[in-house]
Amino acid sequence: MAGPPVGEARVVPDVPAAFAELVRAEAPTSIALSGGGTAEACYRALARTDGVPWAAITVLFGDERWVPVDDPDSNEGMARQALLDHVSPAAVHSMSEAADDIDAAADAYGELLASLAPIQLVHLGLGEDGHTASLFPGNASLDEEVALVVATGDDAHPHPRLSLTYPAIAGSHLAVFTVSGAEKAQAWARVCQGDDLPATRITAGRVIWLLDPEAAATPDLN
Ligand code: 6PG
Repeated sequence: MAGPPVGEARVVPDVPAAFAELVRAEAPTSIALSGGGTAEACYRALARTDGVPWAAITVLFGDERWVPVDDPDSNEGMARQALLDHVSPAAVHSMSEAADDIDAAADAYGELLASLAPIQLVHLGLGEDGHTASLFPGNASLDEEVALVVATGDDAHPHPRLSLTYPAIAGSHLAVFTVSGAEKAQAWARVCQGDDLPATRITAGRVIWLLDPEAAATPDLN
């Protein structure tokens, strides 16, 4: 199987279990969490994993919907219910509560990230359209070269968003994509052939893709 232009691809039978084991093995002192169904399954697996040094881990968010944390669409709300309410991290830095308006929150979260050491592990998903975090195809946020966090969003995805930018992710030590299900096979194949999708442009110190066999299957792209 051809790999992505950037990174190492691992086909695993159980993506959430592989993600949890990778976090345990890497023992990052900071982790930026993602959203979506694959991420939720990963966080439930991580909550059940022993040997993760949570007291030394600062939790951040890689992207967020601009909704209250108790909204069912909140990435932070999902992460708290699936993981953070069951472990005791050193700190949790909310994205959606970083300020009262979305632009101020983007600025405040960017300043927070600039004040911290580079993020050690950024968790990312892959959308069927090739988006990752809240970096959506054709969006101006893809061209951001300075700010670490932007306010963004598009009509195809719910809610205004906050997202790490390419510079923020590029400065991290490790980006881990988790990709599960046949519905992601076409996006994965397009990443592998170097199509200019938001996920294809991701760089970091290391990039690891964890895929199940269904997502890694090579579909007919015609
Ligand atoms: C979000 C996520 C988004 C997600 C992908 C994959 O806020 O929605 O950050 O980038 O990771 O859309 O989501 P699924 O795992 O649900 O397909």
